[in-house]
Amino acid sequence: MTDTLTIAVSKGRIFKDTRPLLARAGIELRDDPDTSRKLILDTNQDNVKIVLIRATDVPTYVQYGAADLGVTGKDVLMEHGGAGLYEPLDLNIARCKLMVAGKPDAAAGNRRLRIATKYVEATRRYYAAQGKQVEIIKLYGSMELAPLVGLADLIVDLVDTGNTLKANGLVPLTHIADISSRLIVNKASMKMKHAQVQRFIEQMRAAVQEQRG
Ligand code: ATP
Ligand code: PRP
Repeated sequence: MTDTLTIAVSKGRIFKDTRPLLARAGIELRDDPDTSRKLILDTNQDNVKIVLIRATDVPTYVQYGAADLGVTGKDVLMEHGGAGLYEPLDLNIARCKLMVAGKPDAAAGNRRLRIATKYVEATRRYYAAQGKQVEIIKLYGSMELAPLVGLADLIVDLVDTGNTLKANGLVPLTHIADISSRLIVNKASMKMKHAQVQRFIEQMRAAVQEQRG
């Protein structure tokens, strides 16, 4: 008997980039995610289901075994901490950088800086490693606005083309980490559904390699 594999995928840009990899691995959605109101989506394989959820919820579903596997950004995993998860594969999609950014002269002087970010844990670790005391302000989006209205001196955010920073008169200042999406696996599922999980990981590994060309 084959168990059902449930795969949690971040909706939005990560899902868009994951779909071709799943297709290369032989998994196609039977439900149309753009029109369906179903939360558990069927695929062409009866024992593989996809749940589409918010990026930050993916590690939680996988940690508690509500999904066996997941696809989410390294940025999200850095905040979650990775408890209860294996991270066997870099999918090489949704690539960008986690960076400190601000107005060109923002980090000048010796005062204690205020940093606005959604990435509180990564920011805390980054400045702690530098031995710098900073004040971190948690935001949930549109970080680029914070330095423009005097909420913060700097931001820590994702940068890809740099267009969002540029459009707001900000510049990238320091690189913190390279980001891409990762395949994650619940530790118990890895044990209990080992053959199936391992087969899926290897299919996805081959799909990533094919896509890299
Ligand atoms: P939420 O669902 O919580 O609103 P979100 O708005 O961050 O999440 P997306 O913008 O789809 O959702 O981003 C999801 C993930 O995509 C991020 O966690 C990151 O790993 C990656 N990502 C975000 N911005 C970029 C970008 N500009 N270029 C490449 N990858 C990105
Ligand atoms: C992400 C990120 C930056 C932007 C960077 O936002 O938070 O604002 O992309 O990309 P760029 O360097 O190519 O401009 P996103 O487009 O996902 O918007 P959201 O976070 O507000 O959903």
